[in-house]
Amino acid sequence: MTETGNAAQPAKIANDTLNQLFRQARTHSAWLPKRVPVEVLREVYELARWGPTSANSTPARFVFLESEAAKARLLPALSPGNVEKTKAAPVTVIVAWDTEFYEKLPQLFPHADMRSHFVGNQRLIDETALRNGSLQGGYFILAARALGLDCGPMSGFDAAKVNAEFFPDGKWRVNFLCNLGYGDRSKLFPRNPRLEFEEACRVL
Ligand SMILES: Cc1cc2nc3c(=O)[nH]c(=O)nc-3n(C[C@H](O)[C@H](O)[C@H](O)COP(=O)(O)O)c2cc1C
Repeated sequence: MTETGNAAQPAKIANDTLNQLFRQARTHSAWLPKRVPVEVLREVYELARWGPTSANSTPARFVFLESEAAKARLLPALSPGNVEKTKAAPVTVIVAWDTEFYEKLPQLFPHADMRSHFVGNQRLIDETALRNGSLQGGYFILAARALGLDCGPMSGFDAAKVNAEFFPDGKWRVNFLCNLGYGDRSKLFPRNPRLEFEEACRVL
């Protein structure tokens, strides 16, 4: 696969792969004691970064906490139910967004002046960053699953505390957290159902 879009027309991917990405992939809280090398974190990002965002704005930023010292800085911000699973996870990712993401638009979307649409328009900045940063968080989870990792996303934390501790200059802000590693399948609860097509979708 090239980075320039010259690849052949894609075919439907194998059922096993679909199972790994979606049907059998679970949200994990218990982790095997197996490190995630930084090279693998780089591989996850290398895949996730190709997911689409509006005007190629890519506002998400990722902070990987792997040392005990880095994790310790996060623990006071977590809801009580998220503390032990985060301590046990090999890596916890702060999925953040850059409040000044539009400053990179001349580089990322060079054929049009998109930067000037954003400067001074806080509502558009916030809406674009949250929508696209959240999409990128989803791409990140699927990229991690594609590489054989498991994820445990979390919104149970105090955002003001995370921002004060990790982003004191206010330029980046937390969106959500995600534990990352190799999940212990023996500790999973039965899976909850999902809505049927007829409940969640309309074809007009
Ligand atoms: C953005 C987001 C935030 C979440 N926050 C938490 C959380 O704070 N604590 C927790 O235990 N699970 C959290 N979850 C996990 C969800 O409950 C879980 O993904 C969902 O029930 C589906 O589980 P399954 O993937 O095993 O089917 C979160 C998931 C997402 C995507």
